[in-house]
Amino acid sequence: EKGGYDHFMLKEIHEQPSAIFDTFRGRLLSDKGIIKMSGVEDNMKRFLNADRIIIVACGTSWHAGLVAEYIFEDLARIPVEVEYASEFRYRNPVIYEKDVVIAISQSGETADTLAAIKLAKSKGAFVFGVCNVVGSTIARETDAGAYTHAGPEIGVASTKAFTTQITVLTLIALRLARAKGTISSSDYRLQLLELELIPDKVKKALESDDLVKSIAAIYKDAPNMLYLGRGFNFPVALEGALKLKEISYIHAEGYPAAEMKHGPIALIDENMPIIVIATKKGHYEKVVSNIQEIKSRKGKIIGIVTEGDEQVRALADHVIEVPESLESLSPLLTTIPLQLLSYHIALMLGRNVDQPRNLAKAVTVE
Ligand code: F6R
Repeated sequence: EKGGYDHFMLKEIHEQPSAIFDTFRGRLLSDKGIIKMSGVEDNMKRFLNADRIIIVACGTSWHAGLVAEYIFEDLARIPVEVEYASEFRYRNPVIYEKDVVIAISQSGETADTLAAIKLAKSKGAFVFGVCNVVGSTIARETDAGAYTHAGPEIGVASTKAFTTQITVLTLIALRLARAKGTISSSDYRLQLLELELIPDKVKKALESDDLVKSIAAIYKDAPNMLYLGRGFNFPVALEGALKLKEISYIHAEGYPAAEMKHGPIALIDENMPIIVIATKKGHYEKVVSNIQEIKSRKGKIIGIVTEGDEQVRALADHVIEVPESLESLSPLLTTIPLQLLSYHIALMLGRNVDQPRNLAKAVTVE
Protein backbone atom coordinates (compact mmCIF):
# COMPACT_ATOMS: atom_id res chain seq x y z
CA GLU A 1 0.00 0.00 0.00
CA LYS A 2 2.99 2.28 0.52
CA GLY A 3 4.26 1.32 -2.91
CA GLY A 4 7.63 0.15 -1.61
CA TYR A 5 8.25 3.29 0.44
CA ASP A 6 8.72 3.23 4.21
CA HIS A 7 6.08 5.87 4.80
CA PHE A 8 3.08 7.35 3.07
CA MET A 9 4.69 10.76 3.31
CA LEU A 10 7.74 9.66 1.34
CA LYS A 11 5.55 7.90 -1.21
CA GLU A 12 3.44 11.02 -1.62
CA ILE A 13 6.50 13.25 -1.94
CA HIS A 14 7.72 11.00 -4.75
CA GLU A 15 4.30 10.90 -6.38
CA GLN A 16 4.41 14.61 -7.08
CA PRO A 17 5.65 14.40 -10.68
CA SER A 18 2.68 12.22 -11.62
CA ALA A 19 0.25 14.03 -9.32
CA ILE A 20 1.08 17.38 -10.92
CA PHE A 21 0.79 15.80 -14.34
CA ASP A 22 -2.64 14.42 -13.43
CA THR A 23 -3.67 17.86 -12.24
CA PHE A 24 -3.09 19.49 -15.60
CA ARG A 25 -3.92 16.50 -17.78
CA GLY A 26 -6.89 17.31 -20.01
CA ARG A 27 -6.82 20.92 -18.81
CA LEU A 28 -3.57 22.22 -20.18
CA LEU A 29 -3.65 21.80 -23.95
CA SER A 30 -0.37 23.41 -24.84
CA ASP A 31 -0.43 22.38 -28.51
CA LYS A 32 -3.66 24.32 -28.92
CA GLY A 33 -2.47 26.97 -26.50
CA ILE A 34 -5.54 26.67 -24.31
CA ILE A 35 -6.53 25.89 -20.77
CA LYS A 36 -9.81 24.06 -20.30
CA MET A 37 -11.46 24.03 -16.89
CA SER A 38 -15.21 23.78 -16.97
CA GLY A 39 -15.64 25.20 -13.46
CA VAL A 40 -13.90 28.37 -14.61
CA GLU A 41 -15.33 28.45 -18.14
CA ASP A 42 -18.92 28.07 -16.99
CA ASN A 43 -18.52 30.94 -14.56
CA MET A 44 -16.24 33.21 -16.52
CA LYS A 45 -18.60 36.17 -16.12
CA ARG A 46 -18.43 35.94 -12.33
CA PHE A 47 -14.65 35.77 -12.42
CA LEU A 48 -14.26 38.67 -14.83
CA ASN A 49 -16.79 40.80 -12.99
CA ALA A 50 -14.99 40.45 -9.65
CA ASP A 51 -12.98 43.37 -8.30
CA ARG A 52 -11.10 41.04 -6.03
CA ILE A 53 -10.62 37.43 -5.02
CA ILE A 54 -10.68 36.31 -1.41
CA ILE A 55 -8.93 33.03 -0.67
CA VAL A 56 -9.91 31.15 2.49
CA ALA A 57 -8.04 28.12 3.80
CA CYS A 58 -6.11 26.68 6.75
CA GLY A 59 -2.58 25.35 7.25
CA THR A 60 -0.75 24.15 4.18
CA SER A 61 -3.73 25.01 1.97
CA TRP A 62 -3.47 28.58 3.27
CA HIS A 63 0.16 28.59 2.15
CA ALA A 64 -0.92 27.48 -1.33
CA GLY A 65 -3.34 30.41 -1.22
CA LEU A 66 -0.48 32.78 -0.45
CA VAL A 67 1.47 31.49 -3.46
CA ALA A 68 -1.69 31.97 -5.51
CA GLU A 69 -1.94 35.58 -4.34
CA TYR A 70 1.40 36.33 -5.95
CA ILE A 71 0.46 34.43 -9.12
CA PHE A 72 -3.04 35.91 -9.56
CA GLU A 73 -1.84 39.45 -8.96
CA ASP A 74 1.19 39.07 -11.21
CA LEU A 75 -0.50 37.32 -14.13
CA ALA A 76 -4.17 38.26 -13.97
CA ARG A 77 -3.89 41.62 -12.20
CA ILE A 78 -6.72 40.83 -9.79
CA PRO A 79 -6.32 41.96 -6.16
CA VAL A 80 -6.24 38.94 -3.85
CA GLU A 81 -6.71 38.66 -0.11
CA VAL A 82 -5.68 35.45 1.61
CA GLU A 83 -7.46 34.72 4.85
CA TYR A 84 -7.19 32.14 7.57
CA ALA A 85 -10.68 30.67 7.43
CA SER A 86 -10.84 30.65 11.23
CA GLU A 87 -10.24 34.41 11.42
CA PHE A 88 -12.36 35.32 8.44
CA ARG A 89 -15.49 33.59 9.70
CA TYR A 90 -15.51 35.43 13.02
CA ARG A 91 -14.32 38.83 11.90
CA ASN A 92 -17.52 40.25 10.43
CA PRO A 93 -15.61 40.58 7.15
CA VAL A 94 -16.65 42.88 4.32
CA ILE A 95 -17.96 40.63 1.54
CA TYR A 96 -19.53 41.95 -1.67
CA GLU A 97 -21.80 40.08 -4.06
CA LYS A 98 -19.23 40.68 -6.77
CA ASP A 99 -16.50 38.94 -4.77
CA VAL A 100 -15.11 35.61 -5.83
CA VAL A 101 -14.13 33.48 -2.85
CA ILE A 102 -11.77 30.57 -3.49
CA ALA A 103 -11.75 27.93 -0.76
CA ILE A 104 -8.75 25.61 -0.78
CA SER A 105 -8.90 22.31 1.10
CA GLN A 106 -7.23 18.96 0.56
CA SER A 107 -9.76 17.02 2.61
CA GLY A 108 -12.74 19.19 1.78
CA GLU A 109 -13.86 18.70 5.38
CA THR A 110 -12.07 21.42 7.34
CA ALA A 111 -14.66 22.96 9.69
CA ASP A 112 -13.37 26.53 9.62
CA THR A 113 -13.04 26.59 5.83
CA LEU A 114 -16.56 25.22 5.49
CA ALA A 115 -17.93 27.89 7.82
CA ALA A 116 -16.11 30.62 5.87
CA ILE A 117 -17.73 29.31 2.67
CA LYS A 118 -21.20 29.38 4.21
CA LEU A 119 -20.66 32.94 5.40
CA ALA A 120 -19.47 34.09 1.96
CA LYS A 121 -22.42 32.39 0.27
CA SER A 122 -24.88 34.04 2.65
CA LYS A 123 -23.51 37.41 1.51
CA GLY A 124 -24.04 36.52 -2.14
CA ALA A 125 -20.40 35.96 -3.13
CA PHE A 126 -19.49 33.32 -5.71
CA VAL A 127 -17.60 30.51 -4.02
CA PHE A 128 -15.16 28.30 -5.92
CA GLY A 129 -13.60 25.21 -4.32
CA VAL A 130 -10.16 23.75 -4.86
CA CYS A 131 -10.38 20.34 -3.17
CA ASN A 132 -8.62 17.02 -3.47
CA VAL A 133 -11.21 14.66 -2.04
CA VAL A 134 -13.93 14.09 -4.63
CA GLY A 135 -17.44 14.52 -3.29
CA SER A 136 -16.21 16.04 -0.02
CA THR A 137 -18.40 18.49 1.91
CA ILE A 138 -16.57 21.58 0.64
CA ALA A 139 -16.69 20.29 -2.94
CA ARG A 140 -20.45 19.96 -2.55
CA GLU A 141 -21.04 23.24 -0.73
CA THR A 142 -19.21 25.46 -3.23
CA ASP A 143 -20.88 26.96 -6.32
CA ALA A 144 -18.23 25.50 -8.63
CA GLY A 145 -14.72 24.18 -8.37
CA ALA A 146 -11.72 22.32 -9.69
CA TYR A 147 -10.32 19.15 -8.16
CA THR A 148 -6.60 18.77 -7.69
CA HIS A 149 -6.64 15.07 -8.72
CA ALA A 150 -3.60 14.37 -6.53
CA GLY A 151 -4.94 10.98 -5.48
CA PRO A 152 -5.38 9.98 -1.83
CA GLU A 153 -3.07 11.75 0.59
CA ILE A 154 -2.66 9.57 3.68
CA GLY A 155 0.33 11.13 5.44
CA VAL A 156 -0.94 13.77 7.86
CA ALA A 157 1.67 16.25 6.67
CA SER A 158 0.42 17.60 3.37
CA THR A 159 2.83 17.33 0.44
CA LYS A 160 1.39 16.49 -2.98
CA ALA A 161 -1.83 18.30 -2.06
CA PHE A 162 0.18 21.52 -1.76
CA THR A 163 1.94 21.31 -5.11
CA THR A 164 -1.22 20.24 -6.94
CA GLN A 165 -3.20 23.07 -5.35
CA ILE A 166 -0.59 25.51 -6.66
CA THR A 167 -0.86 23.84 -10.08
CA VAL A 168 -4.66 24.24 -10.23
CA LEU A 169 -4.46 27.82 -9.04
CA THR A 170 -1.80 28.59 -11.65
CA LEU A 171 -4.05 27.19 -14.38
CA ILE A 172 -6.93 29.37 -13.16
CA ALA A 173 -4.74 32.47 -12.98
CA LEU A 174 -3.44 31.85 -16.51
CA ARG A 175 -6.93 31.27 -17.90
CA LEU A 176 -8.15 34.51 -16.33
CA ALA A 177 -5.06 36.39 -17.46
CA ARG A 178 -5.77 35.29 -21.02
CA ALA A 179 -9.43 36.27 -20.77
CA LYS A 180 -8.55 39.66 -19.29
CA GLY A 181 -5.70 40.31 -21.67
CA THR A 182 -3.24 40.94 -18.86
CA ILE A 183 -0.70 38.51 -20.32
CA SER A 184 0.85 38.64 -23.78
CA SER A 185 0.28 35.63 -26.01
CA SER A 186 4.00 34.84 -26.01
CA ASP A 187 4.24 34.94 -22.21
CA TYR A 188 1.10 32.85 -22.00
CA ARG A 189 2.53 30.20 -24.31
CA LEU A 190 5.78 30.22 -22.40
CA GLN A 191 3.91 29.68 -19.13
CA LEU A 192 2.04 26.69 -20.60
CA LEU A 193 5.20 25.14 -21.98
CA GLU A 194 7.09 25.65 -18.73
CA LEU A 195 4.23 24.25 -16.66
CA GLU A 196 4.31 21.12 -18.79
CA LEU A 197 7.99 20.68 -17.95
CA ILE A 198 7.36 20.84 -14.20
CA PRO A 199 6.74 17.10 -13.57
CA ASP A 200 10.16 16.23 -15.04
CA LYS A 201 11.81 19.03 -13.11
CA VAL A 202 10.19 17.85 -9.87
CA LYS A 203 11.64 14.42 -10.64
CA LYS A 204 15.03 16.05 -10.97
CA ALA A 205 14.55 17.96 -7.71
CA LEU A 206 13.78 14.65 -5.99
CA GLU A 207 17.25 13.44 -6.93
CA SER A 208 18.62 15.67 -4.18
CA ASP A 209 17.35 13.09 -1.67
CA ASP A 210 20.76 11.72 -0.61
CA LEU A 211 22.25 15.18 -0.27
CA VAL A 212 19.24 16.36 1.76
CA LYS A 213 19.59 13.31 3.97
CA SER A 214 23.22 14.13 4.71
CA ILE A 215 22.25 17.70 5.59
CA ALA A 216 19.42 16.40 7.81
CA ALA A 217 21.98 14.31 9.73
CA ILE A 218 24.02 17.43 10.50
CA TYR A 219 21.14 19.59 11.76
CA LYS A 220 18.68 17.10 13.24
CA ASP A 221 19.48 18.11 16.82
CA ALA A 222 19.02 21.84 16.31
CA PRO A 223 16.37 23.23 18.64
CA ASN A 224 15.28 25.89 16.14
CA MET A 225 15.44 26.59 12.43
CA LEU A 226 14.63 29.60 10.29
CA TYR A 227 13.24 29.49 6.75
CA LEU A 228 13.58 32.54 4.52
CA GLY A 229 12.27 33.36 1.08
CA ARG A 230 11.05 36.31 -0.95
CA GLY A 231 8.25 36.87 -3.46
CA PHE A 232 6.70 33.67 -4.77
CA ASN A 233 8.97 31.74 -2.43
CA PHE A 234 8.05 33.55 0.78
CA PRO A 235 5.04 31.23 1.27
CA VAL A 236 7.33 28.26 0.54
CA ALA A 237 9.46 29.34 3.52
CA LEU A 238 6.32 29.29 5.70
CA GLU A 239 5.40 25.86 4.37
CA GLY A 240 8.91 24.50 4.91
CA ALA A 241 8.81 25.62 8.54
CA LEU A 242 5.34 24.16 9.06
CA LYS A 243 6.44 20.78 7.66
CA LEU A 244 9.41 20.67 10.02
CA LYS A 245 7.34 21.65 13.08
CA GLU A 246 4.60 19.14 12.34
CA ILE A 247 6.62 16.01 11.94
CA SER A 248 9.94 16.59 13.71
CA TYR A 249 8.62 18.81 16.57
CA ILE A 250 11.57 21.14 16.05
CA HIS A 251 10.58 24.76 16.40
CA ALA A 252 10.84 26.56 13.09
CA GLU A 253 9.76 29.90 11.68
CA GLY A 254 9.31 31.09 8.15
CA TYR A 255 9.90 34.73 7.26
CA PRO A 256 10.12 36.95 4.23
CA ALA A 257 13.92 37.25 3.96
CA ALA A 258 13.90 41.04 4.24
CA GLU A 259 11.90 40.96 7.48
CA MET A 260 14.84 39.35 9.21
CA LYS A 261 16.45 42.62 10.13
CA HIS A 262 13.23 43.71 11.83
CA GLY A 263 13.64 41.23 14.64
CA PRO A 264 14.49 37.60 13.93
CA ILE A 265 18.10 38.44 13.09
CA ALA A 266 18.62 38.65 16.86
CA LEU A 267 18.18 34.87 16.97
CA ILE A 268 21.10 34.17 14.69
CA ASP A 269 24.29 32.68 16.05
CA GLU A 270 26.49 29.73 15.13
CA ASN A 271 23.84 27.31 16.37
CA MET A 272 21.04 28.50 14.12
CA PRO A 273 20.48 26.67 10.81
CA ILE A 274 18.80 28.91 8.25
CA ILE A 275 17.24 27.58 5.09
CA VAL A 276 17.26 30.29 2.43
CA ILE A 277 15.39 29.95 -0.86
CA ALA A 278 17.60 31.81 -3.31
CA THR A 279 16.59 30.84 -6.82
CA LYS A 280 17.71 32.88 -9.80
CA LYS A 281 15.40 35.69 -10.89
CA GLY A 282 13.44 35.81 -7.65
CA HIS A 283 15.06 38.96 -6.22
CA TYR A 284 18.27 36.97 -6.31
CA GLU A 285 20.70 39.79 -5.53
CA LYS A 286 18.55 40.90 -2.58
CA VAL A 287 18.51 37.39 -1.17
CA VAL A 288 22.28 37.14 -1.62
CA SER A 289 22.70 40.22 0.53
CA ASN A 290 20.35 38.71 3.14
CA ILE A 291 22.62 35.64 3.11
CA GLN A 292 25.65 37.86 3.68
CA GLU A 293 23.96 39.36 6.74
CA ILE A 294 23.35 35.88 8.14
CA LYS A 295 26.91 34.79 7.42
CA SER A 296 28.43 37.74 9.24
CA ARG A 297 26.45 36.60 12.30
CA LYS A 298 27.76 33.05 11.89
CA GLY A 299 24.41 31.42 11.10
CA LYS A 300 24.56 28.10 9.25
CA ILE A 301 23.20 28.56 5.74
CA ILE A 302 21.41 25.94 3.67
CA GLY A 303 20.64 27.49 0.30
CA ILE A 304 17.96 26.25 -2.07
CA VAL A 305 19.38 27.43 -5.38
CA THR A 306 18.99 27.18 -9.14
CA GLU A 307 21.13 24.59 -10.93
CA GLY A 308 24.57 25.97 -11.69
CA ASP A 309 24.41 28.69 -9.04
CA GLU A 310 27.82 29.97 -7.95
CA GLN A 311 27.22 33.07 -5.88
CA VAL A 312 25.22 31.45 -3.08
CA ARG A 313 27.40 28.33 -3.22
CA ALA A 314 30.38 30.50 -2.35
CA LEU A 315 28.63 31.85 0.75
CA ALA A 316 26.47 29.00 2.04
CA ASP A 317 27.42 25.99 4.16
CA HIS A 318 25.32 23.76 1.92
CA VAL A 319 23.40 24.23 -1.30
CA ILE A 320 20.63 22.11 -2.75
CA GLU A 321 19.96 22.69 -6.43
CA VAL A 322 16.59 22.69 -8.18
CA PRO A 323 16.11 23.02 -11.96
CA GLU A 324 15.57 26.45 -13.43
CA SER A 325 12.02 27.49 -14.25
CA LEU A 326 9.83 30.56 -14.43
CA GLU A 327 9.80 32.47 -11.17
CA SER A 328 6.07 31.97 -10.73
CA LEU A 329 6.50 28.19 -11.07
CA SER A 330 9.56 27.92 -8.84
CA PRO A 331 7.56 27.14 -5.65
CA LEU A 332 6.67 23.78 -7.21
CA LEU A 333 10.39 22.97 -7.22
CA THR A 334 11.78 24.70 -4.12
CA THR A 335 9.16 22.97 -1.95
CA ILE A 336 10.57 19.53 -2.77
CA PRO A 337 13.88 19.62 -0.84
CA LEU A 338 12.10 21.21 2.12
CA GLN A 339 9.64 18.31 2.27
CA LEU A 340 12.53 15.85 2.10
CA LEU A 341 14.48 17.70 4.79
CA SER A 342 11.55 17.51 7.23
CA TYR A 343 11.01 13.86 6.42
CA HIS A 344 14.62 12.84 7.01
CA ILE A 345 15.01 14.87 10.19
CA ALA A 346 11.77 13.47 11.62
CA LEU A 347 12.83 9.95 10.73
CA MET A 348 16.28 10.36 12.31
CA LEU A 349 14.63 11.64 15.48
CA GLY A 350 12.41 8.57 15.60
CA ARG A 351 9.17 10.49 15.08
CA ASN A 352 5.98 9.03 13.72
CA VAL A 353 6.26 10.62 10.29
CA ASP A 354 2.85 9.69 8.94
CA GLN A 355 0.92 10.32 12.13
CA PRO A 356 2.54 13.07 14.14
CA ARG A 357 1.30 13.58 17.69
CA ASN A 358 -1.73 15.78 18.29
CA LEU A 359 -2.58 16.12 14.60
CA ALA A 360 -5.46 14.79 12.51
CA LYS A 361 -5.63 14.57 8.75
CA ALA A 362 -8.88 16.50 8.61
CA VAL A 363 -9.79 19.03 11.25
CA THR A 364 -13.57 18.67 11.29
CA VAL A 365 -14.09 20.50 14.58
CA GLU A 366 -13.03 24.08 15.26
C1 F6R B 1 -0.24 20.56 7.04
C2 F6R B 1 -1.57 20.06 7.29
C3 F6R B 1 -2.62 20.99 7.77
C4 F6R B 1 -3.70 21.12 6.71
C5 F6R B 1 -4.87 21.97 7.22
C6 F6R B 1 -5.92 22.19 6.14
O1 F6R B 1 0.62 19.58 6.63
O2 F6R B 1 -1.85 18.92 7.02
O3 F6R B 1 -2.08 22.24 8.08
O4 F6R B 1 -3.13 21.69 5.58
O5 F6R B 1 -5.46 21.34 8.32
O6 F6R B 1 -6.48 20.98 5.71
P1 F6R B 1 -7.31 20.89 4.40
O7 F6R B 1 -6.47 21.27 3.26
O8 F6R B 1 -7.79 19.46 4.35
O9 F6R B 1 -8.48 21.85 4.55
